[in-house]
Amino acid sequence: MNIFFEIHQNLPREAPGDNASTRQAFSLLTNVPPQPKILDIGCGPGMQTIELAKLTDGQIIAVDTHQPFLDELQRRALAEGVSDTINPLNQSMLSLDFAPHSFDILWSEGAIYIIGFETGLKSWQTLLKTGGYLVVSELCWLQPNPPTEVKQFWQTNYPDMKAIDDNLQLIEASGYRQIGHFVLPESSWWDNYYTPLKKRLENLRQKYSDEPQANQDIDNELQEIEIYQKYSDWYGYVFYIMQVQ
Ligand SMILES: C[S@@+](CC[C@H](N)C(=O)[O-])C[C@H]1O[C@@H](n2cnc3c(N)ncnc32)[C@H](O)[C@@H]1O
Repeated sequence: MNIFFEIHQNLPREAPGDNASTRQAFSLLTNVPPQPKILDIGCGPGMQTIELAKLTDGQIIAVDTHQPFLDELQRRALAEGVSDTINPLNQSMLSLDFAPHSFDILWSEGAIYIIGFETGLKSWQTLLKTGGYLVVSELCWLQPNPPTEVKQFWQTNYPDMKAIDDNLQLIEASGYRQIGHFVLPESSWWDNYYTPLKKRLENLRQKYSDEPQANQDIDNELQEIEIYQKYSDWYGYVFYIMQVQ
């Protein structure tokens, strides 16, 4: 039995993030047309999609491969009065099926790691119009030489995690102009993600007390939270804002 989706359903978000950070990243885009076409990649339940819909008069296609997240986004967009501008679509980021130069903005919070940071930068670029923007948030080392425990944890769970400057170099090497970058605040890990997730895990622990596999899944999720609690000075989510030349 895999309870991954029971753990993750109906959480506010599926990765660290918050509306203020989405707005901060969007504010760095200086040349957005009045009605931009936006693709939100790996949208999850769509907190950032809805915030983007409130920030622009454009149209947003939001892609994800987990249909319940897309259904949740649709429900939330209706409740927030922005469903006319958001089109949830079940499509993989690994094979995005849109004409070249279709979008003014590609947006992806906490999801580019699935395709890989460098591969995402390169393979998504053709979807952007000239002068279009790519905005992503990515898990990064904030300091060199992390303690062994946290180093080993991420070596196992995300071996491709890089330092901020290494990703900035990849951005330049991939043909983008850097517009800016910033580290998300620690509150964006807790308020919309780890705090509600921890509560969910505690409830599921009671429900599945006799299920060893479920308890293992719960332990794995709790370990990630504990590692962040101990080592949040060493790694974090970083927003990167770039423009195709
Ligand atoms: C860590 S979550 C981030 C979700 C959301 N952007 C947020 O910040 O709350 C990653 C998302 O990518 C989705 N995903 C996984 N594989 C995918 C793929 N191949 N193509 C598109 N989305 C994918 C997952 O279903 C999940 O919603």
